[in-house]
Amino acid sequence: MPIIIIVVVIFMLNSHRVTGQGILKQNHVLCHDKDRNALSAFRQGIEDPHKSLSSWSTEQDCCNWLGVECNNITGRVTMLELSSCSEFKCFLGGEIDMASLFELEFLNHLYLSFNDFTTIRFPPLQTSQNSSSPTNSSSLVYLDLAYNYNLHMDDLRWLSHVPSLEYLRLDGVSIIHETIWLQQISMFLPSLLELHLSNCFLVGTGINPSLGRVNFTSLTVLDLSYNFLDSEIFDEWFFNLSSSTISYIDLSFSHLRGQIPQTMMHFQTLGNLSSLTLLAVGKNQLSGSLPREFWKLSTLEYLSIGYNSFSGNLSEQNFNGLPNLQILMVEATAFNFQFGVSWKPPFQLQELRMPNCKIGPKFPSWLHTQASLFYLDMSSSGLSFYANQDFWLFVQGVNSANFYNNSITGEISASQWILNGAINLKVNNLTGELPRLSPHVLFFSIADNNLSGPISPNLCDNMVNESELIHLDLSNNTFSGEFPDCWSLFKSLSHLSLGGNKLTGKIPDSIGSLTELQTLRLHNNNLSGNVPPSLKNCTQLWFLDLGYNEFSGNIPTWITQLNMILLLRSNKFSGSIPLQICELSSLIVLDLADFLALNLSHNHLKGVIPSDIGHMRFLESLDLSNNQLSGEIPQSLSNLSFLGYLNLSYNDSKGMIPLSTQLQSFDLSSYMGNPELCGAPLLKNCTQEKDHNDSQQNEDRDSDEFRTSFLIGMGVGFASGFWVVCSTIFFIRRCRHAYFRMLDNLYVFVVLKMNRIL
Ligand SMILES: *[C@@H]1O[C@H](CO)[C@@H](O)[C@H](O)[C@H]1NC(C)=O
Ligand SMILES: *[C@@H]1O[C@H](CO)[C@@H](O)[C@H](O)[C@H]1NC(C)=O
Ligand SMILES: *[C@@H]1O[C@H](CO)[C@@H](O)[C@H](O)[C@H]1NC(C)=O
Ligand SMILES: *[C@@H]1O[C@H](CO)[C@@H](O)[C@H](O)[C@H]1NC(C)=O
Ligand SMILES: *[C@@H]1O[C@H](CO)[C@@H](O)[C@H](O)[C@H]1NC(C)=O
Ligand SMILES: *[C@@H]1O[C@H](CO)[C@@H](O)[C@H](O)[C@H]1NC(C)=O
Ligand SMILES: *[C@@H]1O[C@H](CO)[C@@H](O)[C@H](O)[C@H]1NC(C)=O
Ligand SMILES: *[C@@H]1O[C@H](CO)[C@@H](O)[C@H](O)[C@H]1NC(C)=O
Ligand SMILES: *[C@@H]1O[C@H](CO)[C@@H](O)[C@H](O)[C@H]1NC(C)=O
Ligand SMILES: *[C@@H]1O[C@H](CO)[C@@H](O)[C@H](O)[C@H]1NC(C)=O
Ligand SMILES: *[C@@H]1O[C@H](CO)[C@@H](O)[C@H](O)[C@H]1NC(C)=O
Ligand SMILES: *[C@@H]1O[C@H](CO)[C@@H](O)[C@H](O)[C@H]1NC(C)=O
Repeated sequence: MPIIIIVVVIFMLNSHRVTGQGILKQNHVLCHDKDRNALSAFRQGIEDPHKSLSSWSTEQDCCNWLGVECNNITGRVTMLELSSCSEFKCFLGGEIDMASLFELEFLNHLYLSFNDFTTIRFPPLQTSQNSSSPTNSSSLVYLDLAYNYNLHMDDLRWLSHVPSLEYLRLDGVSIIHETIWLQQISMFLPSLLELHLSNCFLVGTGINPSLGRVNFTSLTVLDLSYNFLDSEIFDEWFFNLSSSTISYIDLSFSHLRGQIPQTMMHFQTLGNLSSLTLLAVGKNQLSGSLPREFWKLSTLEYLSIGYNSFSGNLSEQNFNGLPNLQILMVEATAFNFQFGVSWKPPFQLQELRMPNCKIGPKFPSWLHTQASLFYLDMSSSGLSFYANQDFWLFVQGVNSANFYNNSITGEISASQWILNGAINLKVNNLTGELPRLSPHVLFFSIADNNLSGPISPNLCDNMVNESELIHLDLSNNTFSGEFPDCWSLFKSLSHLSLGGNKLTGKIPDSIGSLTELQTLRLHNNNLSGNVPPSLKNCTQLWFLDLGYNEFSGNIPTWITQLNMILLLRSNKFSGSIPLQICELSSLIVLDLADFLALNLSHNHLKGVIPSDIGHMRFLESLDLSNNQLSGEIPQSLSNLSFLGYLNLSYNDSKGMIPLSTQLQSFDLSSYMGNPELCGAPLLKNCTQEKDHNDSQQNEDRDSDEFRTSFLIGMGVGFASGFWVVCSTIFFIRRCRHAYFRMLDNLYVFVVLKMNRIL
């Protein structure tokens, strides 16, 4: 007891001495007045729609305010964390008043990511004349403003205020106008350890060697992915940049081109890459072969070089130099792989992505040595082999395996177990019967093979527990027999495709137990009867294809009231069609081509994008490319907060791209081919003069023209068929969308609610 009292007294004395005004209360000091004032000033600029910062007014002690952390001895604020707020809980907007935050002399951690701040204010910069006078600098060490998609930083000179920074994360913040970003960062932040600038619209001028040497002595992490570098980055500057401790380099998706020089790693004179664990240069336009030194990066654990134009021979000798490799991504490259049949790699991979590579025809035998493989993608790789028991044993050990679009042959027995979390065998040459699915399979596709026999017994009778299956695609085989009737065991199913088989009978009522169902494809079978009313239970359904069957009866009214794409062509339906197609807010796409004997000429979308497009609140994907749309992009488009994919390229849109949460986050390619369009993410600046001559009347007329041509175009497209992009679940970053493209290059937009698939 006495010891505790002494400690408390020492605390008290200490805090008094240090702060001059800290007062001990309930075992810790009250925050410093100066800090409370600075935080209150910062608070002034914030918009807080969810009242997350209510503690900031009710609590006296600012150390108890949400997100604030103080040194418990001095009472000075050391950390402010208002980020990672889940479910919009503290989705703050407005201004980040850095000038006030810099008043927090002891603040060294600042995290404001994942909000919707739109502006940022810095203290005035010292002019160059009196640069000799001491600048007030903040003691920030960690700064994270990432994923405030509306935030723009026109220049980075403010970094001069934070010379102690070791960690800088600005992912998703637009820095498009700072042309010498790298030089600014290296000049002002000599102690930087981690630099995260993914998705910042960075431009290539910033890495021009003429700007001089870039001197990061202690950088360990460099993330410049998803930018518009548009340069030959493997000029010497890059290797001057690499510091002795760099361990993580991500340059994927950043529009790099050219070759990696054979003299790439002058370990002796230039950078030292000897501690590199992650190197990602995937999805660029890099070409040529990889230099020999590349294969000496023995610490490498993660290597991503796919989706480039690399070529040359890659043999087991190359990979023998990478004993620590765990993740290897070499998608769609022209490498000539030369692996011996008895090769035993020094590594144990967890993830291997090599789709669209020249691997086949034989199954690479070295894969059998990879006991920890969790994810394998060998789709479209020219594999052509007989699937023996060894193959199935190997595959069973891999959590996610993708062999889509090869020529694997062999007969599957109905007793073969599928144990994988996800397996894609679509487009192969397998025969036999439907294998047994373990209840833990989430994704199973064996579409476009030659399987036959009934579905029902193999699917239903073997399923002892409730299945976790989300995606089941058995289409384009020759399965026969009755439509299975055990759907109450498959309550997680979101995507069911049994089209292109020889199924007979009715859709059973148990289909109504699939309350998670989003897409149902039953086209090209011999199914008959009514559309069962229990389908109403499937409230998530947005895609229903019943075409080319023998269904009869009325098209139920409720079906057309859902936000749904409905394909009913070539059936025996009778009665009238309840059309509500014109209400954009609950768009239904109907394909009734054969039903109406529709005769529509080719057309293209014309006019302006209607300003009420913002009413389609749940629009996740909008593709209006390659049309003749004119006028400005409506401001209301920025209301579409779920929009994950946008393509307005190749139209005649003009004016400035509205500023919004998402519109600037899309790729340049979303907007290109509109010569009169300007503003971020396009590199073209908007000039002052603005055309506002168009009267409202014109606009109304033009948007009516749009609606008319949209409806006509829709008919054309569906009359000639369409295909689905993003049909596989093997996820692509940013591919949380699906969109439909028509064969004649005419695009429509659809209301989609496509949730997480896997
Ligand atoms: C003060 O903070 C330090 C470091 O965070 C911690 O170890 C210590 O237990 C704290 N003391 C009190 C009294 O909370
Ligand atoms: C900086 O220089 C300006 C004139 O160039 C002067 O008015 C100002 O007082 C100087 N500031 C300091 C802090 O010396
Ligand atoms: C700069 O530092 C001085 C002395 O530490 C202080 O009086 C002044 O308020 C500071 N100015 C700013 C803008 O922080
Ligand atoms: C790279 O560093 C070397 C050695 O310090 C120097 O000679 C060369 O000019 C630098 N190149 C660039 C582009 O900075
Ligand atoms: C790089 O920075 C270090 C430490 O700041 C310094 O010692 C060194 O001279 C710099 N090198 C160049 C070429 O600027
Ligand atoms: C490279 O780094 C390693 C370990 O960090 C060190 O042992 C080696 O001497 C360095 N080489 C050069 C040329 O700096
Ligand atoms: C690649 O390998 C083939 C033999 O498979 C050989 O003929 C060719 O010369 C090799 N190319 C290079 C650049 O080594
Ligand atoms: C299927 O794989 C072949 C290579 O074996 C490739 O040329 C073709 O483009 C692939 N098709 C699809 C639809 O991916
Ligand atoms: C599929 O396998 C059969 C033999 O089972 C063979 O005749 C046929 O050519 C194969 N088709 C393809 C596309 O590989
Ligand atoms: C089924 O086959 C048809 C016709 O060959 C093709 O258009 C369709 O894409 C295939 N469906 C699937 C899911 O593979
Ligand atoms: C429809 O869903 C409800 C619960 O949402 C369930 O009780 C009912 O059995 C379902 N109907 C059918 C036919 O599965
Ligand atoms: C765009 O505007 C900025 C600032 O307004 C200017 O610095 C830049 O040079 C302009 N870029 C082009 C391509 O005109």
